[in-house]
Amino acid sequence: MAREFSRRLRAWYRRHGRDLPWRRSRDPYRILVSEVMLQQTQVSRVVGFYERFVERFPTISDVARSRPAQVREAWRGLGYYARARHLHRLAREVAPPRGSGQLPDDPAALQALPGIGAYTAGAVASFAYERRAALVDTNVARVLRRACAPGVDAKSARGARTLWEIAGALLPRTGRATWVHNQALMEVGALVCTARVMHCDRCPVSSLCATFARVKRRPAGR
Ligand code: ADE
Repeated sequence: MAREFSRRLRAWYRRHGRDLPWRRSRDPYRILVSEVMLQQTQVSRVVGFYERFVERFPTISDVARSRPAQVREAWRGLGYYARARHLHRLAREVAPPRGSGQLPDDPAALQALPGIGAYTAGAVASFAYERRAALVDTNVARVLRRACAPGVDAKSARGARTLWEIAGALLPRTGRATWVHNQALMEVGALVCTARVMHCDRCPVSSLCATFARVKRRPAGR
């Protein structure tokens, strides 16, 4: 069942996934910048900010060498400026002379850095390094809850733990497939299984979905 779920997701993504600038990169620094921007800002707004930011600061060392105010300036308009401050602190830790210049590939090591939570750690590990790491953000939590655990309260600590366990159990075997699988989960959350509407008619995993099975038994209005 887990294998089929992932296979269908990945096949769907290859046809329907959006071509977004950070999806063309495996540079851990660029992936990190995109994921930090995407934490609180929607994709359509992030695209332009991301492209200008990585042009202005092409490497993590360029961020580390800058003043916090310069990073903040490049972040202007995106809001949630704590993100820019954390990114600057992270860059100073990771870039020489304090660090090696390489972001870690391990989710636990990533989470020890400023501003990186469990989601961003999983995103950098799987999207930059193609590591077999799970990720759960609000969108993924909604998809997994509806598909696999409709009774779970995603907002409780216990519910969140359950959803992370499910995310781990659904991962495909290889790191390469994990890249596609995780992007596909995000994409289904953004385009198909949205907070407002469930487009089950377009969903690649509806036949494996617990919520869809319930809705089918009890069609709308009955
Ligand atoms: N939101 C967070 N990460 C994303 C990604 N890699 N692609 C699209 N939307 C995202």
